[in-house]
Amino acid sequence: MSLLIKGGQVVTSSNRYQADVYVEGERIKAIGRDLDYQAEEVVDASGKYVLPGAIDPHTHILLPFMGSHAKDDYATGTIAAACGGVTSIIDFDLQQKGETLQEALARKQELARDRVAVDYSLHPAIMDPRPDVIDEIKKAAQDYGTPSFKIFMVYDFRVDDATMIKLLQETKKYGGLVQVHAENVYIIQHLNEVFAREGKLTPYYHALSRPNIAEQEAVSRASKMVELTDSRIYIVHLSSKEALWVIKDARDRGVNILSETCPQYLLLNEDRYLEPGFNGAKYVMSPPLRTEESSQALWEGLRGGDVQIVATDHCPFDFHGNKDMFGTEDYKKIPNGAPGVETLLMLMHSEGVLQGRISLEKMVDILASSTARIFGMKDKGEIAPGKDADIVVFDPKQKFTVRQDKLHMNVDYTPYEGLEVTGMPSLVYSRGKKVAQWNEDRVEFVGTPGKGRFVKRVPFDYG
Ligand code: URP
Ligand code: ZN
Ligand code: ZN
Repeated sequence: MSLLIKGGQVVTSSNRYQADVYVEGERIKAIGRDLDYQAEEVVDASGKYVLPGAIDPHTHILLPFMGSHAKDDYATGTIAAACGGVTSIIDFDLQQKGETLQEALARKQELARDRVAVDYSLHPAIMDPRPDVIDEIKKAAQDYGTPSFKIFMVYDFRVDDATMIKLLQETKKYGGLVQVHAENVYIIQHLNEVFAREGKLTPYYHALSRPNIAEQEAVSRASKMVELTDSRIYIVHLSSKEALWVIKDARDRGVNILSETCPQYLLLNEDRYLEPGFNGAKYVMSPPLRTEESSQALWEGLRGGDVQIVATDHCPFDFHGNKDMFGTEDYKKIPNGAPGVETLLMLMHSEGVLQGRISLEKMVDILASSTARIFGMKDKGEIAPGKDADIVVFDPKQKFTVRQDKLHMNVDYTPYEGLEVTGMPSLVYSRGKKVAQWNEDRVEFVGTPGKGRFVKRVPFDYG
C-alpha cells in the first residue's frame, strides 16, 4: 500500500513547512516538494496540517477500580483514540497480587489481541513489589519492551518510600523510568475524617479533601528520592501550581524530574464540583480539578518546558451506573476518573494553539515527539523518513461541537459537552492504513479492530 499526501503543512516539534509526504507500506519514505511518486492513494492536504499522530501515554483500559471497571475496552478505547487523532496509547497494566510483571503483561495483551485498533504499549504498575518483582525490572525494561513503571503514593495499593527508593535505583540501572501518582495519603485520610464528621460528603469535598498541598508534598518527597538516588522520575497527571513550583525548583538544581499534565487540569476548574445535583461527580478524579491559577501555571509550565507532555488519564466511568452506584451519599465512593482520549488533540489545538497558549510546534512536541522520546517509542512521534506512518491530516478550520453522542468513547458523558472547538482530524493513518476520517459532522472510524500492534519500547540511556 502506498500513500501520497500532497501540499499539506508538515508540522514538527520545531518547525513547519509545505511538503508532500510519501508513505510506502507502514513507514514514511520521503518528504519533499512536488514529490513524483505514483501512489495507490493520493490525498490533497492543501490548507491542512500534516501532524504525527498523538500518543496518549496515560490510559486505563478496563481498569478495575473502586467497585467498577473503566468502561472502555481495547476496541472501544482505541477506536475513540483513532477518531481523535491518537494513533498510539500506552495503557497502565496494574499487576495483581502474586503476579509477575510478565504475567500481568500477558493478561493485558490477551485483552488487547484482536481488538486494538491503533498501536499500544503498556506501563507495568507495580502493586506487589516482592523481591522477585524488583529483580524482574531488568527484563521488563530490556526484554519485554516496557521500560516505564507506575507506582502510587496514594490509594490502598500505594508503595512505601523505602520501596520507592529501591525502585528508583533499580530502574536507573536498566534505563527505566518510574512514573508516580503523587499525593500525600495522610493529608487526604485526615481531611476525609474531618469531612465525614462534619457530614460534608458531596462531590465538592472530594476536591477539598485532596488539596494542592497534598500533591506538593508528595512531589517534593519524590524529588528528594530522585536526588538521593541520582535517578529520574516522571510525575503523572500534575494538577497544581504548588507541585509545579517544586518541580521547577528541582529541575533548576539539575534534578531529573519530568511531568505530564492533562487537558482537564488545563481547561476545567474546581467550580465544576458545584454543578447542580450530583453532576459534580463527573469530575471526580485524583488529583482533583484546581483553580484557574493552577491551570495558568500549568500552561506556563508547558511553554517553559518544565512540563513535557499532555496525556489524558482516560479512565471512563458512566455517570449513570458507575459514578452514582455507591457515591451519591459519599464522595469517597465515587469511582475516580473521567474520559478524554478522543478529545485530547482537538482540545489542545482549539484551546491551546488557537487561544495563543502554546504554539502549533509545541502542541506536536507535547502530544507526540516528546512522548515518543521519553517513553522510548523510537519509530513514532515525528513526521520524518523512516518513522511509522502514524499521520493525522488535520483541518485547522473544521468546527465541531463536542457532544457525547458524536464521540466514540464507551461512556455516557464528556466533561466538555457543548464546547465548540475549531480544528479536527480530516484523515488519520495508523502505520499507513486509514483508520478514521471526517464525515459530515463527526469523525468516523474506518479501520479494523485487531490491526493495532504492541509496541516494544526501548530503555533510556542514562549516559
Ligand atoms: O482519578 C483518576 N486519576 N483515576 C485513574 C487512576 C489514576 O489515579 O490515575
Ligand atoms: Zn493516578
Ligand atoms: Zn491514571
